[in-house]
Amino acid sequence: PSVEFGLEAPFSIEYHDAVGSTNDRARELAADGAADVAVLADEQTGGRGRLEREWAAPSGGVWVSVVTRPAITPAQAPLLTLAASVATATAAREAGVDARIKWPNDVVVPVGDDGDYRKLAGILTEMEGQTDRVDWLVVGIGLNANLDADALPEGATSVRDEAGDVDRRRFVQRLLEEFERYRTDLDAVVPAWRELALTIGQRVRVDRPSGEVVGEAVDVTESGALVIETDDGRVTVAAGDCEHLRPV
Ligand code: BTN
Repeated sequence: PSVEFGLEAPFSIEYHDAVGSTNDRARELAADGAADVAVLADEQTGGRGRLEREWAAPSGGVWVSVVTRPAITPAQAPLLTLAASVATATAAREAGVDARIKWPNDVVVPVGDDGDYRKLAGILTEMEGQTDRVDWLVVGIGLNANLDADALPEGATSVRDEAGDVDRRRFVQRLLEEFERYRTDLDAVVPAWRELALTIGQRVRVDRPSGEVVGEAVDVTESGALVIETDDGRVTVAAGDCEHLRPV
């Protein structure tokens, strides 16, 4: 199945009314050698989140996974995830939502001034490659678009609740155009991310497999890791090591 999108970005779109997980379908395509394909679904019956979590993906959201074969090393891959969160937040802001980014890759809407937030979108990146080069990346983006937030998991919000329904076709078009812009200019990703970041300047607690880190989030490195100023000095946390981050 495919849909004409009139995209300026060089992605072809494979559309499904319903699919288990667009990431799973995109992985199949990637393993078959595909590149620059976006798998889009109205509904996912087995949507997946980070860290083996389930991701609620009923009809009405934007569930899309992009297959890309960038000339980068695996260490640079988190930049593509940051690029996806910048693209998603930008498209959401154009739709009238006060979208910001919570490191590493949650797109959230702030609630009050104390660092609290509700989650609007999440990104799940999966990769295959060798130590020195990426073979393919699947960047999966899930955005609560035309959905009632009270039917979503706790702590979630939606474009509908924040600003009213969007034209999902137009939204995906803008999302992919922005993703393309950063994919082709990786040096621009971290500066753009900083502009939208909710995390920098916050006192945070990060849980990671090797233990928790508490301190002020002060910067993001060139490869997308978070720099935290702790009582014992600076600690850098890679995006893939973040199990949970919350303001404290
Ligand atoms: C997270 O915040 O845990 C990441 C959520 C990622 C959800 C998207 S929806 C499209 C793509 N397909 C999936 O199964 N997951 C991602």
